[in-house]
Amino acid sequence: MKPKVLITHELPGDSIQKLKEIADVEILEDSNVNKAVLMEKIVDKEAIISFLGDEIDQDIIKQGNKLRIIANYAVGFNNIDVESAKKCGIIVTNTPDVLTDSTADLTWGLIMAIARRIPEGDAFVKNNLFKGWEPQLLIGQAVSGKTLGIIGMGRIGQAVARRANGFQMKVLYTKRTRLTEAEERSLNAEYCSLEELLQQSDFVSLHTPLSDATKHLIRKEQLDFMKPTAYLINTSRGALIHEKDLVEKLKAKEIAGAALDVFEDEPKLAPGLTELKNVVLTPHIGSSTIETRIQMADLAIANVIAVLQGEKPLTMV
Ligand code: GLV
Ligand code: GLV
Repeated sequence: MKPKVLITHELPGDSIQKLKEIADVEILEDSNVNKAVLMEKIVDKEAIISFLGDEIDQDIIKQGNKLRIIANYAVGFNNIDVESAKKCGIIVTNTPDVLTDSTADLTWGLIMAIARRIPEGDAFVKNNLFKGWEPQLLIGQAVSGKTLGIIGMGRIGQAVARRANGFQMKVLYTKRTRLTEAEERSLNAEYCSLEELLQQSDFVSLHTPLSDATKHLIRKEQLDFMKPTAYLINTSRGALIHEKDLVEKLKAKEIAGAALDVFEDEPKLAPGLTELKNVVLTPHIGSSTIETRIQMADLAIANVIAVLQGEKPLTMV
């Protein structure tokens, strides 16, 4: 009998065919995924491919007593109780590397969008308000030559830093473990404390994983260090920021703006966030290019196939 595999949503690409050759695959309909459904479906499965909105907690892990691998279709894995999985001898994998460039690209898109007011300009033209060139029309702030502060200098943070060099920016960063001197030189990035980074940066961008230690890393106290002309960018995880504190800060115009791809309690938004003029909001699309999403599917499926065949997975967390 073939092993049974659960996939919580449809995946792009053709790799699924390879998986179907060796396993019985059940794919859930998007709207169906909640804890009750997962508790029921996990019972006879040896593998699950989960999405970042699927909370794979201790109960689901215990219920999955045939489970050998949880393959998350994301680089972040804060939705999985990795500790419990380990205790039960279940392998957890993610999809690093393949989404580094697409997420760094989106980060830059958001930097440009908020500083140069691109979404406002788009709405202006589409609403037939453009009556000719004006010296004061939609004045933004320069990006080139400014200071970019990167919080969390992993793969994605480094890819963002490399792009900043093309804009002749000064790059500051914080990281749990400092990079080597050679790495710092090649990225042209300077290590500093979080406080210094917040005080000096014109753009502050978050690239650290979400954990108990990083939840609400940026709340009122940290926002108060930022310059009134600075922007906050987040393409990592929403809960790194205390979203209500940020809304207050933006309402008071004590920072210039924020561009957010991720939210504290997705898909819910903090009250008042959408009414603000000085924000650009996108719906968690950091890895959303057809190329990246197919590579993520290929990688998640390769991880499942490896484990079902008794081999080592490619990208274990
Ligand atoms: C997306 O947010 C991911 O973690 O892959
Ligand atoms: C993980 O968060 C990475 O930077 O790839």
